[in-house]
Amino acid sequence: MGLSFRHLVSAKDLQRQDVEAILKEAEEMEKVLKTGGDERLKGKILAALFYEPSTRTRLSFEAAMHHLGGSVITANGIENSSLKKGESIEDTMRMVSQYADIIAMRHPEQGSAAIAATAAAVPFINAGDGGNQHPTQGLLDVFTIHRELGTHENLTVAIAGDLLYGRTIHATASVLALFPQRECIFISPPALRMPQDVKDFLKEHGVSFRETEALAEGLEADVLYMTRIQSERFSDVTEYERYKNLYQLSARDLQARKTVIMHALPRNTEIATDVDGLPNAAYFRQAGNAVPVRMALLSMMVGKM
Ligand code: NCD
Repeated sequence: MGLSFRHLVSAKDLQRQDVEAILKEAEEMEKVLKTGGDERLKGKILAALFYEPSTRTRLSFEAAMHHLGGSVITANGIENSSLKKGESIEDTMRMVSQYADIIAMRHPEQGSAAIAATAAAVPFINAGDGGNQHPTQGLLDVFTIHRELGTHENLTVAIAGDLLYGRTIHATASVLALFPQRECIFISPPALRMPQDVKDFLKEHGVSFRETEALAEGLEADVLYMTRIQSERFSDVTEYERYKNLYQLSARDLQARKTVIMHALPRNTEIATDVDGLPNAAYFRQAGNAVPVRMALLSMMVGKM
């Protein structure tokens, strides 16, 4: 089945059928990986434009492309690119569209991805625009939930930490909202609550949620997704200092609970390392799932010229 979109700017652009098709294809890609990859993207080039730090996202996009026989060209950091010389995002897209068959871009400004997509002549993927959205992370998160629990429906999913600036979980909550859920529990201090647009999206899709400050309320959920307090988004450093160690999950908090623990990584102090050895600590598997999910997405999108 084809995808309903040409560019992927926000997880809110996805249809339920898109998510189902991508998750199914990602399972196929796991098989492709087991047999050593294939050549279906031979001759195709991904331009990976990362104007903000990235480890997992860039490397897993690159690995995904390589596993399918494609290649990658990269721009790293605004300092090293023409954006530094005052080139507009639109001009960069017009130019890069002539070098590549698909573009993935990470940029520090919220809304930059929507601007880029209007000028891209090839399919465009938002790999994170400021504190706004990170749709491919949302997809791999829901794939991970499915892998861990055998379903991504009718669940209680708790998300804790920096819900205001955490672009990954804006995407994850939006993808989850396309399916019936029992409840979402949003755990944060009042100043870092989930943005209204994401809450509206859940309401439109009939997914109920509640907001609390207590991490303990997430311990009994099916999934507890911890997030990093996004230091780079705070204009006032004392504000960041106030929240940076607010939620710290340790093995003692979890005891024998089966709650699936997720995190987009990198982590700071929000998950103690003594959680890592628990069978329900899913965050490193989550990072691994980035490869088959991005393989699926790239191969499904690159044909859409
Ligand atoms: C996240 C990001 O860049 O938004 N990392 C990722 O893509 N896996 C999360 C973060 O930086 O906290």
